[in-house]
Amino acid sequence: MNIQNNHYPGIFISFEGIDGAGKSTHIHFFSEEIAKRYPEKKIVITREPGGTSLGEKLRETLLNDSMDIRTEALLMFASRQEHIAQVIEPALRQGDIVISDRFTDSSFAYQCGGRGLLVEDLEYLERWVQTRVVNNHSFLLQPQTTFLFDLSAQAAEQRRSATRTPDKFEELDIEFFNRVRQEYLRRASNDLQRFVLIDSSLSIMVIQEQLKSRIASM
Ligand code: TYD
Repeated sequence: MNIQNNHYPGIFISFEGIDGAGKSTHIHFFSEEIAKRYPEKKIVITREPGGTSLGEKLRETLLNDSMDIRTEALLMFASRQEHIAQVIEPALRQGDIVISDRFTDSSFAYQCGGRGLLVEDLEYLERWVQTRVVNNHSFLLQPQTTFLFDLSAQAAEQRRSATRTPDKFEELDIEFFNRVRQEYLRRASNDLQRFVLIDSSLSIMVIQEQLKSRIASM
């Protein structure tokens, strides 16, 4: 794993995927396994939107209230700014392992792929919120590793309808989730060093083995 990506002593990992692809199921297992690999390190499990007290208030609004799609994107990044400043950066600075259930790839997938905002506009926000300077060196703060749980929009919808009451995003149609998935895959194909693609149609046990072997090489 490239642990130079964030220029801090900590390790930053994100989990991504369309709703229903199963990423949340695997975060718990992954955090237990990585704790065995790095017993001396503190593990911080967090999420977006959310992760701070302001971020959780924004999450409540974002997941329930209707709003202009640009407002939605801006609030996602507002929550992210607070999350980085209050949680992610301080933890990475002190050498912790930060595991985030979603990060900026979700904004590209949902707000660009799904909603149709321009990639260039979000790239601007990404640069604004995630550019950091450490030892006179400026860089874009990104996870070193992003696990992308990939599943067809149809299969994900079947899983969601069997397990939960939909929020604002989960009520959207198959076409929306197809576009979200395609944007995730586009981002992944542009950054093969950071992304680890997981085929979510495989069994939980097979996926757990893949996560374990990935941790062994970290
Ligand atoms: P998630 O926590 O995965 O939902 P759940 O609690 O149901 O497992 O994600 C919340 C929703 O927010 C999800 O539908 C994706 C959406 N989202 C965006 O649209 N843009 C973003 O930048 C982020 C972080 C999430």
